[in-house]
Amino acid sequence: MCGIVGYVGDNKSVQVLMGGLRRLEYRGYDSAGIAIIDAGGALNTAKKAGKLGALAAELEANPINNGNTGIGHTRWATHGGPNDSNAHPHLGDNGKLALIHNGIIENFSVLKDELLAEGFSFESETDTEVAAILLGREYQRVGDLAEAFRAVVSRLDGAFTLLAVHQDQPGIVVGARRNSPLVIGLGEGENFLGSDVAAFVEYTRRAVAIGQDQIVTITPDLVTVTDFDGHPVETEEFDIAWDASASDKGGWSSFMAKEVSEQPDAVANTLRGRIAGTTVVVPELAAFGDDALRDIRRIVIVACGTASYAGQVGKYAIEKWTRIPVDVELSHEFRYRDPVLTADTLVISISQSGETMDTLMAVKYAREAGARAISICNTQGATIPRESDAVIYTHAGPEVAVASTKAFVAQITALYLFALHLARVRGSLSEAEQAEQVAELQGIPEKIATTLLQEPTVRELANWMSDTRAVLFLGRHVGFPIALEGALKLKELAYIHAEGFAAGELKHGPIALIEPGQPVFVVVPSPRGSAHLHPKVVSNIQEIRARGARIIAIAEEGDVAVLPFADTVIRIPLAAPLFEPLLAVVPLQIFAMALATAKGLDVDQPRNLAKSVTVE
Ligand code: F6R
Repeated sequence: MCGIVGYVGDNKSVQVLMGGLRRLEYRGYDSAGIAIIDAGGALNTAKKAGKLGALAAELEANPINNGNTGIGHTRWATHGGPNDSNAHPHLGDNGKLALIHNGIIENFSVLKDELLAEGFSFESETDTEVAAILLGREYQRVGDLAEAFRAVVSRLDGAFTLLAVHQDQPGIVVGARRNSPLVIGLGEGENFLGSDVAAFVEYTRRAVAIGQDQIVTITPDLVTVTDFDGHPVETEEFDIAWDASASDKGGWSSFMAKEVSEQPDAVANTLRGRIAGTTVVVPELAAFGDDALRDIRRIVIVACGTASYAGQVGKYAIEKWTRIPVDVELSHEFRYRDPVLTADTLVISISQSGETMDTLMAVKYAREAGARAISICNTQGATIPRESDAVIYTHAGPEVAVASTKAFVAQITALYLFALHLARVRGSLSEAEQAEQVAELQGIPEKIATTLLQEPTVRELANWMSDTRAVLFLGRHVGFPIALEGALKLKELAYIHAEGFAAGELKHGPIALIEPGQPVFVVVPSPRGSAHLHPKVVSNIQEIRARGARIIAIAEEGDVAVLPFADTVIRIPLAAPLFEPLLAVVPLQIFAMALATAKGLDVDQPRNLAKSVTVE
């Protein structure tokens, strides 16, 4: 939520900042802006409401002087609407200082009143401008940006990453972070700051994550990190595991289309290095310890949105293979209801970005209450893994489209790896059972590739459904979270009212929604693997078909029982029941994407959304 980039180096700030913002635009696209200190030591800014293209057009029409120091911002609006004056950067110290912000300053109105009483005036309705003016006031007092920051951060409540430049200190960018992300990129004679490594991966693969409550100063040759009191802190460098081309569209019509197609690799890469023969050994879990794994009595999965549906799928596998009870909780509900947490509770957080504030807060809360925490995360250097006892990285590669796809299948894969590792340590599965699940997992990439071949059928379906106003999704067992995910994808991409239900729940109320022509997707369990459940779902289909519903069944190859009752059948390859979600979700992703495209919508950047939700 909001993308931030900072640069000091040679004379190419505009290019670096605009390139970084392009790669960060998925974090918010309500407005964008940059501030540059030019060779003459003057501060120049440009900012514009709308997507980054609007700022690029503005810079083309009215170029600003390039320079060696700059900051850039792409906004997801919180305080104040998405217009030019609320766009970042905001200015302080009589226009000599520029500041950008990601997060929310919760006590901004008290601070604003204080500044108004002192005679300061404001150009915007944002919380950020308060920080800019405070920082300018402190700079006038101390004459040093890093020192001014130390005075200001102690006055701010809430979450923030702040970056600032001052024209009297060219060649320096200073940043501070609390509960919002900030990563350093280390170059040769140039250094970078970014909300994530995508901001600078074009220029360097060397990065350093900045810890909680720290201040960083970069010059072309030096990086200094201190705590909020000014004490130096040790940092750890890491290599960025992907190159800039991984976050390019590479000829696809959208990032989402590219990422959907990358799902076989996302699963294969997440499995890599974690399977030893016919068993699962996740090396990262050594940090947690086998004894601690044996002591677990209960698991709570915390996540939001799509990641929480991955958690719901994972619950079925973990319980089945380890017999440990699992609850799945939305992170934002979890810590506000005084949950029962003990030392033998394991909290597993799932987050593609590793920065979702709701999930971060849930992890912190759980650890403070004595529970241990493992995170499943797709982003190196992110905050949630740093706040956890161990992390299992998904290796889906950068996910740029706002709607999560390849991260979802990688998250389920990581949960299954975790479950099988745990089952091995606790001895809850026989060797033969382990081997069977491992073989299933290893077969998934190819089966997803086969499922992707259904794209023309799904696209055709989406084309004739482009006027549809409501769609229902039904599933049972692991098909239920997939129904929820199918509905979420359709809502967020095609802006169509969509609901997912457990198929058995229909008769308890939602069946009243069925009227002639109502499209209903049904995720049908395998007649072989789920022999007890399959006839029940077929009965559910008949109940709604009798009331005029138009049925689109997602069913495995060879399932003929659905044929008399389905208007369209989308086939998925045979898989054991727990593995079907990894296949069944694919046509639903393609459907939502194709329907949004048919309606002329931007599938990568749906309205009102941002990829990384770093506010509560
Ligand atoms: C939907 C989607 C969101 C995210 C949710 C959590 O397509 O992407 O629902 O899954 O905001 O984000 P992360 O995984 O970054 O914590």
